[in-house]
Amino acid sequence: MQLLLSLCLTWALLPTAELLRCHECANEGCANITSTECPATSPICRTITSLTTSGSNLVLTVNKNCSTLLNCITPLTIETEWSVNRGFSRSSHTQICCATDNCNLQTLAVPNILTNGKVCPSCASSADSMAGTCNSTLSCMGAEDSCFNGTSTSNSSQVIERGCLSRNLCTNVLIRQALFGANSQVVCRAPWSVRLSAVLLTFALTACKVLV
Ligand SMILES: *[C@@H]1O[C@H](CO)[C@@H](O)[C@H](O)[C@H]1NC(C)=O
Ligand SMILES: *[C@@H]1O[C@H](CO)[C@@H](O)[C@H](O)[C@H]1NC(C)=O
Ligand SMILES: *[C@@H]1O[C@H](CO)[C@@H](O)[C@H](O)[C@H]1NC(C)=O
Ligand SMILES: *[C@@H]1O[C@H](CO)[C@@H](O)[C@H](O)[C@H]1NC(C)=O
Ligand SMILES: *[C@@H]1O[C@H](CO)[C@@H](O)[C@H](O)[C@H]1NC(C)=O
Repeated sequence: MQLLLSLCLTWALLPTAELLRCHECANEGCANITSTECPATSPICRTITSLTTSGSNLVLTVNKNCSTLLNCITPLTIETEWSVNRGFSRSSHTQICCATDNCNLQTLAVPNILTNGKVCPSCASSADSMAGTCNSTLSCMGAEDSCFNGTSTSNSSQVIERGCLSRNLCTNVLIRQALFGANSQVVCRAPWSVRLSAVLLTFALTACKVLV
């Protein structure tokens, strides 16, 4: 819904003839910034700071470039943090999308890596996720306020997908398919430690609706 709304707004606001220009850079410090004209398929500017971990290997990157609207996750000009954490690998990001010429100059803060008290089922290793023998639990970090559970296809065999993710990735199945692959079936679940408060929140929202 939010996505559709910002899609419509973007179309309405963008001048039809001119193409948007965005800052473009990819190296770690984003030292070499150029300006590029966006293709019609990527009509938005984005700045994204990413922290990925694979085992004990930690990589920080900054990327500024044209983007598709789907990659924006939240409406334009709203900073968002999103993350997918399998335990043995994690990919977390802070980003802003915008739609005026070269609006993506800002470099955003490094995504949060502190545990947040939420816990999700997970696979202990990539080998376990391929073998389907997942019996671990994972302490969620930063913006990860939901669990994911499902399957994806890797190297034409099915692997189990389990871990923590940020709930802003749960609202759109296309976003999850972009993250986990076209053949993936991944659903979101409430993490263990907040199951009760999620129920209370739903109740409160329902009560609110009835009252209004
Ligand atoms: C920017 O995005 C385009 C596709 O729109 C891609 O071809 C290019 O490699 C990207 N540049 C950087 C620096 O990531
Ligand atoms: C900066 O990037 C541009 C385009 O990607 C490239 O042509 C140029 O050589 C780069 N400059 C430096 C100093 O790396
Ligand atoms: C998961 O299973 C393995 C072997 O099947 C076992 O060694 C391990 O203790 C189990 N871990 C948990 C957290 O139950
Ligand atoms: C999620 O996990 C449970 C086991 O805990 C499993 O039965 C179920 O099929 C999984 N997949 C989905 C998409 O719910
Ligand atoms: C895919 O499977 C083939 C054959 O089983 C194997 O040789 C190859 O290393 C696998 N590739 C990856 C990326 O796992």
